[in-house]
Amino acid sequence: MIKQHSVIVGGTRGIGREIVKEFSNQGHIVSIVGRREPKAEDKKILNAHFWMLDLAEQTNIAATFQKIIHQNGKINNLIFSQRFRGESDPWGGELEVSLTATKNIIECVKENFNKSEGGAIVIISSIASEYVADEQPVSYHVGKAGLVQLGRYYAVLLGPKGIRVNVISPGTIIKEESKGFYQDNQELVDMYQSIVPLGRMGTSQDIAQLVSFLCSSKSSFITGQNIVVDGGLSLQWHESLARKLAQLSNIKVTR
Ligand SMILES: NC(=O)c1ccc[n+]([C@@H]2O[C@H](COP(=O)([O-])OP(=O)(O)OC[C@H]3O[C@@H](n4cnc5c(N)ncnc54)[C@H](OP(=O)(O)O)[C@@H]3O)[C@@H](O)[C@H]2O)c1
Repeated sequence: MIKQHSVIVGGTRGIGREIVKEFSNQGHIVSIVGRREPKAEDKKILNAHFWMLDLAEQTNIAATFQKIIHQNGKINNLIFSQRFRGESDPWGGELEVSLTATKNIIECVKENFNKSEGGAIVIISSIASEYVADEQPVSYHVGKAGLVQLGRYYAVLLGPKGIRVNVISPGTIIKEESKGFYQDNQELVDMYQSIVPLGRMGTSQDIAQLVSFLCSSKSSFITGQNIVVDGGLSLQWHESLARKLAQLSNIKVTR
């Protein structure tokens, strides 16, 4: 059987790194795009190939993706898990790295999907595409909202080519790099357990498994969707949540 080729943009760290491990475990050839050197241990991930590219530099995108396709073949799955982490102006940086780079990469590779098996594109956005998270800058909100509509646009445009495009909007996710922080702040984890209907925080494995489903034939009639992954947290009326939090803080609430 011919191996699938999955490209993970932003696959060197965090959620993207978990997606890389998921596809590697499934026997895919995995092309990983990131700005910095991967961790030494990651260079041993089976069938993983790293490409260092700063997505703020749009002019280098085409050449890098030509090399990726030349080396590893036509693409089955293309995943976007990058976010702006630079020092420069967050507005320009986020729009370049999140929105413009995603659009330019899709435009660059859309004729290079494996036609016989169909293709899948999955874009990681955020719950901040819909709600205001005041610990994140305005650029993050606008970039993430733009990705949702970008996903819908390309779902319509690329559907006739057999390419499905879906978006995932996670709430707060525990990833390898943030495990220590949450272990040191157990009261925060307890708070999430109390207010999330499914009673726990999300993990990068939760997102990787959904990505895997959205890239599989099990989701062959799903395209253009934005799937929120937050254990049901955002389904609750904000005042109800405020009451739960007040109760957790022992503030007297009369119903
Ligand atoms: N973590 C959460 O709780 C959470 C919640 C909701 C949504 N999300 C979304 O999920 C996605 C992944 O988040 P994360 O927390 O896993 O992020 P992360 O740990 O910061 O990883 C971001 C990835 O993007 C790459 N990247 C950043 N700037 C780049 C650039 N200029 N050029 C090329 N690559 C670049 C990084 O590579 P280098 O390290 O090599 O620069 C890294 O691989 C993001 O879209 C984020 O907004 C995350």
